[in-house]
Amino acid sequence: MEEGIALSAAALGLLAWGLPKAHRRLQLSRAKHRSLAGHARLAQRLAALLPGYHYDEAQFFGADGAPPEVAARRREGFFRLAALFEALQPRGLELTDAAREGLSDLQFTGRYRVPFPFSPLVRRHLRTSSFVARADGVTVEDVDGNRYHDLTGSYGVNVFGVDFYKACMDEGHAAARELGPILGSYLPCVVRNIERLKALSGLDEVSFHMSGTEAVMQAVRLARYRTGRRHLVRFTGAYHGWWEDVQPGPGNPMPPRETYTLKDMDERSLRVLRTRRDIACVLVNPLQSLHPNANAPGDSALLDSSRRAGVDRAAYAAWLHQLRQVCSERGIALILDEVFTGFRLARGGAQEYFGVRADLVTYGKTLGGGLPVGVVCGGRDWMKRYRDDRPAHICFARGTFNAHPAVMGAMSAFLDRLEQPEVAAIYDGLDARWNRRAAAFNAALAEAGVPVRVAHLSSIWTVLYEQPSRYNWMLQFYLRAHGLALSWVGSGRIVFSLNYGDADFDAVRAKFVAAAREMQADGWWWRDPGLTNRRIRRGLLLEALRRRFG
Ligand SMILES: Cc1ncc(COP(=O)(O)O)c(C=O)c1O
Repeated sequence: MEEGIALSAAALGLLAWGLPKAHRRLQLSRAKHRSLAGHARLAQRLAALLPGYHYDEAQFFGADGAPPEVAARRREGFFRLAALFEALQPRGLELTDAAREGLSDLQFTGRYRVPFPFSPLVRRHLRTSSFVARADGVTVEDVDGNRYHDLTGSYGVNVFGVDFYKACMDEGHAAARELGPILGSYLPCVVRNIERLKALSGLDEVSFHMSGTEAVMQAVRLARYRTGRRHLVRFTGAYHGWWEDVQPGPGNPMPPRETYTLKDMDERSLRVLRTRRDIACVLVNPLQSLHPNANAPGDSALLDSSRRAGVDRAAYAAWLHQLRQVCSERGIALILDEVFTGFRLARGGAQEYFGVRADLVTYGKTLGGGLPVGVVCGGRDWMKRYRDDRPAHICFARGTFNAHPAVMGAMSAFLDRLEQPEVAAIYDGLDARWNRRAAAFNAALAEAGVPVRVAHLSSIWTVLYEQPSRYNWMLQFYLRAHGLALSWVGSGRIVFSLNYGDADFDAVRAKFVAAAREMQADGWWWRDPGLTNRRIRRGLLLEALRRRFG
């Protein structure tokens, strides 16, 4: 009898201990986005099942069941572009070929410009040069003398135009000339850099690093150190650099179990933050406001036309405020990763744009004035790397090249210019300007009758496709043929520098429309009226299954 009571007491105890744990576990899984981007381990398993295959020429031009006449038009357009690229870029193609075998990055980017079944034929025929010679204004010139309007934004570095950065880089190198590679002590300009970064971020302290990835690593480490908790929260699809704690990917090491990837803009994620006691920090990339819960849009993932994007600024600001509140209540660090958005959305970055204050802010890219950099700004308590009461308990973070003299000099030049009235004026009416430009762009596309539109967060744009198609990724090559330079991810990420004047902007719009028209005339947007994005995806799944199981 007593034994029975003891047993049921033990069972009750176990239940009392286990139930809340199970409940928290359930809450956590409810706060995960249902897409594969929200389930890294499942994505990894599925990726292992996906067979590698590619289309032969007939399949390439008729993958959507287009009639032979349309496939023939596509083929004609494809080889016309191929001949054009060969003729325009002999030197660039020669250099690209010479570099490719020894440059793994080039092999990777070349392979992933388009969805993989189409990739071999594209690589063989639509060869593009990766070598450039000079840049000025808003254009870049390749080694064969072809000029392109630059829509790459140098991965986001180029906020104010290349000439601005050339001047900052010159000043940086001039400042470091007398010193050479002396590291560990500082150039005097570092004092002013710190002062100005404190003012711009509204935070107490600064640390210097070499890249955005490093800045994020340091911010997370500091949050873990101060809170004594292990777990970090990031949101589905958000990019924070290539460190594995923040970058789940089928071929990358899985992020450790301490990374929770939760749904962006969702009450269930707030509930997790409110109830768990193991969370050190919440990492937010404000660029996600353009496409919450989705990965950065690259053309290699353009399997159909279901890409969606668009900013609801008020809703995102409200979300950040909710995060701010719950982080304050629970002693969690709110880290705003402004490596991309810093100095671009507003002088004070996303903090100013969305009206929220973070505990730690990471910067990078443009802040180096054209040289590599990462910066963490933070409240004093969050930045402290030692404890007075436990002297051996330190949070070590240094780096050989941190605060490199040339980088500090270029940063100083960048921050000097930020104070100049003509640069300050760029921020006046910035959003209204880019809203107006995006509206004009969409109106021109609609008038041309092409199934393409843009969505944007200020000067960061993404191309959307209006009708179901398997060939939208071809647009990147037509854009190139019309003199528009995109980064290797293609039409998903267009980044304008803020020195684009109306004339150059209009030229880009005209080239873009002409490129889309040509692509349409070549039959790539032919459409079986019954075709839907869903049908495309189902067809792709069946195709993959057939390839896998013969
Ligand atoms: C928001 C964000 N965080 C971090 C990084 C990583 O920066 P880096 O490439 O300098 O390591 C990037 C780079 O694109 C970024 O956009």
